[in-house]
Amino acid sequence: MGDSERYDYETLLVEFDDGVCLLTLNRPEKRNAMNPTLGEEITDALERLRNEDRCRVLVITGAGESFCAGMDLKEFFIELQDKPAEYDRAHRVAVEWRGRTLRLFPKPTIAMVNGHCFGGAFTIVEGCDLAVAAEDAKMGLSEINFKMFPGGSVGKSMGNLLRPRDYMLYSLTGRPMTGQIAADIGLVNYAIPRDKLRDDVMALAREIADKDPSALQATREIYRNSMDMEWDVAMDYASSLQSQHTARQANAFREEGIGDFLDKKYKPGLGGHENAKK
Ligand code: ACO
Repeated sequence: MGDSERYDYETLLVEFDDGVCLLTLNRPEKRNAMNPTLGEEITDALERLRNEDRCRVLVITGAGESFCAGMDLKEFFIELQDKPAEYDRAHRVAVEWRGRTLRLFPKPTIAMVNGHCFGGAFTIVEGCDLAVAAEDAKMGLSEINFKMFPGGSVGKSMGNLLRPRDYMLYSLTGRPMTGQIAADIGLVNYAIPRDKLRDDVMALAREIADKDPSALQATREIYRNSMDMEWDVAMDYASSLQSQHTARQANAFREEGIGDFLDKKYKPGLGGHENAKK
C-alpha cells in the first residue's frame, strides 16, 4: 500500500493500491461503531478523495472482525442527550455523509462487509454502488431490539434496496442475517468465504478502476439522479450528461472506443481493450 501521510485520522485508515482507495473504519475495540468524530473525519476524507488521483474506486471496510456496529449508541444517544446543539451537528453530519456525500460520490464505491453490520451501517451498504459480504458476516436491522426504529436515513435507504417483505421481516424482528442471506435477498451483490473477501473485492475494484473515469462517473449519475425524475426530464438530463461526459473525456469514446472497434482492434461486447490481446 502506498503513501497515506495526508490522510491522518483517529477513526479511519486510508490506503491506496493501484488506483483503489481502501478506507477502513478503524475503531475495532468498539466494533467500528460510528461516533461523531468518525462522522467528521469521514466527511473530510470523502471531500478530499473526490479529487484524489490515487482513488479511482473507493472500497469501504471495517478493521478487525466487524464491518460497522451502526451508530455509536453511547456517544450519540447517551452522552449527547442533554446537548441539543452538539447532537444536531453530529446527527446532520452522520446523515449527510452516508445519504448524500457517499451516494453521490463521483467515483465507484464498494462496501466490503467483513463482519458485523447493524442498523446505521446498512446505509453505508446502500450508499455504495456495490457490496460484497463475508458469507458468515452477521448483519441486521437491530433497532427494534433496543426499542427504536430504523431512523435517520436507514428506513429511506432500505426502501431503495430491499423488497418490502424483506424490510418488514428484518426490521420488525431485528433478526440477524448472514452475509449469504444478505446476498440471497439482494442487500449485497454476493457473499464469499471470509478468507477470500479482500482479494476478491480488490480484484473487482481494480477491474472497475481500469475503465474510463468519466464513463464510470456518468454510469452512476444517470442511474442515481434520474431515479426520481419524470421521463421527459430524465431524457433531457441524459442529453446534458452526454455532452458533459464527452467534454470531460475529450471524445475518447468516439476515438479510442468506437474507433478502435471499427478498426477491428477489440470487441466491446467481450470486454475492454484488454480483450484484444486474447
Ligand atoms: N455503539 C457503541 N458501542 C458499541 C456498539 C455500538 N453500536 N457496538 C459495540 N460497541 C462496543 C461495546 O459496548 C463494547 O464496548 P466496551 O468494550 O467498552 O464494553 C465493545 O464495542 C465490544 O462490544 P461487544 O458487545 O463486547 O462485542 P461482541 O463482538 O461480543 O458483539 C456486536 C458485537 C454483536 C456488534 C454487539 O456489540 C452489538 O450488538 N452491538 C450493537 C449493535 C447495534 O445494534 N448497533 C446499533 C444499530 S442501530 C443504529 O445504528 C442507530
